[in-house]
Parts: sequence; C-alpha cells; structure tokens
Amino acid sequence: MKEYLVIGNPITHSLSPELHNYWIKENGINGIYDKKKLNKNDLKEFFLKIRNKEINGANITVPFKKDVIPYLDQLSFESEKTQSVNTVYLKNDKIIGHNTDIDGFELAIKDVNYDVKGKKVLILGAGGVVPSVILALYKMGVLSISISNRTKTKAENLKNLFKDLEVVDWNEISNFDMIINATSIGLKKEDRLNLDFSKFQNCEFFYDVIYNPKETNFIKDGKNLGKKTENGKKMFIYQAAKAFKIWHGIEPKINEQVIGLLDK
Ligand code: ATR
Repeated sequence: MKEYLVIGNPITHSLSPELHNYWIKENGINGIYDKKKLNKNDLKEFFLKIRNKEINGANITVPFKKDVIPYLDQLSFESEKTQSVNTVYLKNDKIIGHNTDIDGFELAIKDVNYDVKGKKVLILGAGGVVPSVILALYKMGVLSISISNRTKTKAENLKNLFKDLEVVDWNEISNFDMIINATSIGLKKEDRLNLDFSKFQNCEFFYDVIYNPKETNFIKDGKNLGKKTENGKKMFIYQAAKAFKIWHGIEPKINEQVIGLLDK
C-alpha cells in the first residue's frame, strides 16, 4: 500500500486527508493519506523515508514550505521562484519539490470569472502562501501588486523574490481593484482586520485565503459594500487536486460532494 502524508506544525486542522482519501478510494488506488505533526529537526529523517520509498509523496504546510528545500534534489520552476514547496515526489530516484498553490490560486480566481489583467491588487500579510499568490497574479497579467504586513521587514523581504512589489504601510491603504487577505486574522470568527472599509468603495473583489470559517469578517465587510467576495476553499481544493495528479497521474473529480468534505 502506498503512503502519502501532509506534514506541518500544527497539523490537526488540516483537511487534506479528507480530500485525498476520498479521491484515493474513488479511483480504486491502494493507498492511504495521513497527517503528521513534525518539528524542524525531524525533517532529515522524514526525507530519508521518502528516498527509501517508505513514504510515496508528501504535502508540506506551514511552517515548513521553505525549510524543506535543503532536503530536496530538485525544485520545479514554481518552487524555485517562490522559495516554497507544498508537494514532494520521487522521480527517477530524485526527490522533487513542486508548488501547486500557484495553480490552486489561479484556477480558483478563474472559477469565479474575475479577470485580474490590468488590475491593481493589494495583499495583506506576508506569510507562507503569499509568494504563491504573487506568482499566480503576475502569471495572470496583473498591473501591480502592493503588499502590507504588520512586520514590514517581512514584506520588504519579498522584494528579493519579486522586485516589482510595492510595500505600503497599513494606514496608506486606499485605491485597489482587488484586496486579498493572506493574514491569519479571521481564523477566529471574531477576528477583524484593523481597516477602514469605507475607503474601499472602488474595490471590486475581496478575496480571503481563509476558508474555515467560511465567512470571515473581511468577507462580510466586502459583501456589505456590495462587492464580489470569495474564500480560499477552491484554492485549497485545486492545490490538492494538482498534487493528486502528480502522484497518481489522475485528474480527480471536483464536485459538490468533494466541496462538501471541507464543510466541517
Ligand atoms: P507565517 O508568517 O509563519 O508564514 P502565516 O500564517 O502564513 O504564518 O502568516 C501569518 C500572517 O498573518 C503574517 O503576515 C502575520 O503578520 P506578521 O508577519 O507581522 O507576523 C499576519 N498576522 C497574524 N496575526 C496578525 C495580527 N494580529 N495583526 C496583523 N497581522 C497579523
């Protein structure tokens, strides 16, 4: 039986096993997908298991998306560009790191028929998923990306990867076509970003990377302005589907039942 894992810390909240085990069963694959909490100093041993084929593939989540890079033999263009890995597999005895968050974000945005071409986008936050969101936006032809983060140096550091980024102060935030919440504010239902939404009358689209809870205050405030909103659920499903395709060579079905697996 083949074994797949998602590793991170914390990991209990991860819904990746629900999706992958559903698709594994549906496609009659002899395999299992589990979650495992690791510490940074467990990574070496973990990747030995991948090399020995005791583990056949892995997803990597917060906080290890960058930390795993030294243990890999090869990075895909996307992982190299974002310095971020969420999917690992063995090919010709080489451990390859890839990043399916980029496709995940791009497909999710296309799903809601929003065309980012020529748009001014603001990203709030500078954590693990942000380089992937940035690369996807550039691929889709965005006009400009501004970024604001509580710890400004973390936003500035992203300019090492993407030189055209503009870093703005939280209180300078004003005129954008699309605003993306990539902070962890909203994970708790009562969380609210310290932002004056009355400044966002011209913003068309409020996107939250968070999908649980379904409707953060950021999404609610966007809706109250009468604007288009979307949460991170589809992005999460698409990144998982792309990982599944890499490991099993099968494009898994995404239907209402699959989407419902994440309504916990
Ligand atoms: P990591 O930073 O470890 O990759 P993450 O969950 O991907 O973790 O990112 C958390 C994001 O939410 C960060 O941008 C963080 O800002 P800092 O870089 O300043 O830590 C942001 N964030 C978390 N709590 C916040 C708060 N109370 N106010 C503002 N930003 C917050």
